[in-house]
Amino acid sequence: MSRVVVLISGRGSNMQALVENGIPVVAVISNRPEAKGLAFAASRGIPTAVVDHKSHPDRESFDRALVEAVNRHNPTLVVLAGFMRVLTAVFVGAFAGRMINIHPSLLPSFTGLDTHRRAIEAGAKIHGCTVHFVTEALDHGPVIAQAAVPVRDDDTEDALAARVLLQEHRILPAAIRWFLDGRLHVNGLRVSLVEAGVNDNALRVPDPL
Ligand code: GRF
Repeated sequence: MSRVVVLISGRGSNMQALVENGIPVVAVISNRPEAKGLAFAASRGIPTAVVDHKSHPDRESFDRALVEAVNRHNPTLVVLAGFMRVLTAVFVGAFAGRMINIHPSLLPSFTGLDTHRRAIEAGAKIHGCTVHFVTEALDHGPVIAQAAVPVRDDDTEDALAARVLLQEHRILPAAIRWFLDGRLHVNGLRVSLVEAGVNDNALRVPDPL
C-alpha cells in the first residue's frame, strides 16, 4: 500500500486536492503551526505534525528533525505542496528519487518566489505550473508534468495565481498517481511516462490527461 506524506506551509489547497482525488495521504506536516491546511487534514482524520523552523538554530538541524518526522510515517513518496522552506542536502538526500514539488511557474523560467508578479512584469504571454522531482538545485529537478495558462493583458497577480492554481490541482494528483503506479522513467533531467496510453499524452496539460 502506497504512503504519501505531504509537507505544507499554509493554505494547503494542493494537499486538499490530493486527498479529494484519492491519493493515499498518510500524514501532513507543516513548518508553521498556524498553517490553515492542518485543520483540513485533521478533519479528514489524517495525522498532522508541526516541525517549526523557528525552534531550530540552523537549516540542517531543522532538516534533521523534519526527516525524523517524515520517516515516522514510512513514506513511499514525499510531496512538497506549498512548502515554503529551502531544504538542505540533509533532507533532499534522505528522500532522493521519491520527493516531488509543485512550483507555480513553467520551469526553468521563474524559479524562486513571486512567480506570478515576475511573469506579468516580464511580459510573458504564457505562464503555468510544474511538478518536478526535488534535487539539491532549487527548482531544477526533472520535470514530470506542466500545465500552461494564458497571461491576459489586464491580469493582476491574484487573478493569474488563481488561474494557475486550478491547474496545480490537476497536475499534482496526476503526477503522483503516475509515480505510485511506477510509470515514471527518469533519464537525467528528462522524465518519460512508461506505457503512456492515448489519454496520458506525454505528461502535459492542457492536453488531456
Ligand atoms: C501554490 O501556488 C504552490 O505552487 C506554491 O505555493 C502555493 C501553495 O498553495 N509553492 P496551497 O498551500 O497548496 O494552497
